[in-house]
Amino acid sequence: MTNVLSRKMVGVARRVTHKSGYVSFRAKPGYHYVPDVYGRSAHKHLDIRTLPVFGETAAEVIAQGRTLLYYDRLYTIYQALTNAQRNFAGAADNLHAAEVGVYKGGGSYFINSILRSLGVENAYLHCFDTFEGHASADVQTADTFQRPGMFEDTQYESVKQYLQPFPDTRLYKGRFQEQCAQVADHKFCFAHLDVDLYEVTKVALEFFAPRLFAGAAIIVDDYGFATCLGVKQAVDEFMAEPNGFVGFHLLTGQFLLIKHG
Ligand SMILES: C[S@@+](CC[C@H](N)C(=O)[O-])C[C@H]1O[C@@H](n2cnc3c(N)ncnc32)[C@H](O)[C@@H]1O
Repeated sequence: MTNVLSRKMVGVARRVTHKSGYVSFRAKPGYHYVPDVYGRSAHKHLDIRTLPVFGETAAEVIAQGRTLLYYDRLYTIYQALTNAQRNFAGAADNLHAAEVGVYKGGGSYFINSILRSLGVENAYLHCFDTFEGHASADVQTADTFQRPGMFEDTQYESVKQYLQPFPDTRLYKGRFQEQCAQVADHKFCFAHLDVDLYEVTKVALEFFAPRLFAGAAIIVDDYGFATCLGVKQAVDEFMAEPNGFVGFHLLTGQFLLIKHG
């Protein structure tokens, strides 16, 4: 009797909250809930925070408060880097990786730390940002929710100092479109594109595509987020033609491209 009553009460509470625009569910720690537009599903996940190397590095970087990325998206980056280490670390004199859209530097710190923890000693990380936020010239019609000056609360000098523990880091201040020529002679084992905008994402994809080792990955952040429609447009245009890449839309919001052949 009590059970029937409490089930009815839960049902009433759900209907009331739903009418007010909320969804209520029984929160179970460690479960991953699929957005209801994709169907209903809840699965208990392995706790990636307990994984050696990844767990402590991600926790350190998140605690520093200098990245917008959280465990889920950092984990995709971590996996791309472990593949880069396995496949390319012994194959080249020097490895080159890149992050376009560095902001306060947390993502670059994470990439550097992981490479170091994986024993990769010969890797340069090339980090690109205006360090003044989005430039007016870059915000286009496709970038509905983006505004000139967004992410301007960072400074080149401060990021440079923050990344000092990693002497093989190169920081490029200015629009990627105007800076990328400086690294045009390198082959890359990994690129993380996190600029939230159409044109620079497109330019970066076209820049890195021919300069990537076969088997290497590009991760494009924000592809699946409604706030970055320009990023989706850039990736979709890039993937519309045969381009030597296989691509995956991950439910972390990232788009993963792997070069084949
Ligand atoms: C979402 S933030 C990057 C977040 C960062 N990866 C993190 O880990 O928190 C986007 C960055 O892209 C940068 N950006 C936008 N347009 C750019 C361009 N044309 N060239 C280089 N950086 C650009 C912005 O200045 C901003 O810092």
